[in-house]
Amino acid sequence: MTETEDKYLELLKDVLIDKDNANRYQLTPYPPHRSYFIKRYIINKVINTLAKKKLIITGINKNGAKQREIGLGWPINGYSMIGTKRLNNIQFCIENVVKNNVPGDFIETGVWRGGSCIFAKSLFNILDKNRTVWVADSFEGLPKPNTELYPEDAGDDLFSLEQLRISKEQVEENFERFNLLDGNVKFLKGWFKDTLPNAPIDKLAIIRLDGDMYESTMDGLVNLYHKLSSGGYIIIDEYGTIPACKKAVHDFRDKNGITEEILNIDDSGYYWQKK
Ligand SMILES: C[S@@+](CC[C@H](N)C(=O)[O-])C[C@H]1O[C@@H](n2cnc3c(N)ncnc32)[C@H](O)[C@@H]1O
Repeated sequence: MTETEDKYLELLKDVLIDKDNANRYQLTPYPPHRSYFIKRYIINKVINTLAKKKLIITGINKNGAKQREIGLGWPINGYSMIGTKRLNNIQFCIENVVKNNVPGDFIETGVWRGGSCIFAKSLFNILDKNRTVWVADSFEGLPKPNTELYPEDAGDDLFSLEQLRISKEQVEENFERFNLLDGNVKFLKGWFKDTLPNAPIDKLAIIRLDGDMYESTMDGLVNLYHKLSSGGYIIIDEYGTIPACKKAVHDFRDKNGITEEILNIDDSGYYWQKK
């Protein structure tokens, strides 16, 4: 990679997470991060309640820049909420699969405004233009918990959040803003349970699961993991933050005898390499 390409990628990461406005963010309903103090948790709870009632839409956070590094808080104008470290992890995984000729495409299940996929596409354009970036989302937010099938999702109310409903047209426009929309960006629109089982995907080199819930995480694992090439990576966003998501991962691993070591990215995102 040239120095210019390297600088472009670093700048792109900052733009995607809206680092310039790191002190302004949408409040996250997620449980407190390990580094959070209980006080901040309570303050966030109060502000979240107000935000849900649409009495306020933003929070102000003096530690914003640090928190954007690890994807805490949702940027108001950014394209991804995952933060710099998890974007760096995408870069690490892509560089490795390309260097080691691990065959297959990239998929993210749960894309929000598309920033992670936009970043993946920009890197593939530099390293290997033939890989497809699969962009899978309902484009209308999270599903209501199906507690009959997935009791682990009981009480999850992420489906009610307006901020998480981003249309496919908006995500396409976001790709276009970076001049990154071409035939190798493919959209899977709908609930994962409907789109993933018959998705026309042959092989995957990287799977990035970011659907937060037990159901959404399990749908990704059951329908995609067998397509992951050996030497490829699976990344689970919010494994460290949402217990139901973590449980889906362990239920799936236990059932399928998967023992590869799970590696920590930033206490929220985790990943492993398929042997
Ligand atoms: C936390 S956001 C993803 C953040 C994104 N990866 C980023 O880089 O900012 C979760 C996304 O998952 C989608 N989602 C969650 N569960 C889903 C399901 N079962 N089917 C379809 N979309 C789902 C939501 O619509 C939402 O866009």
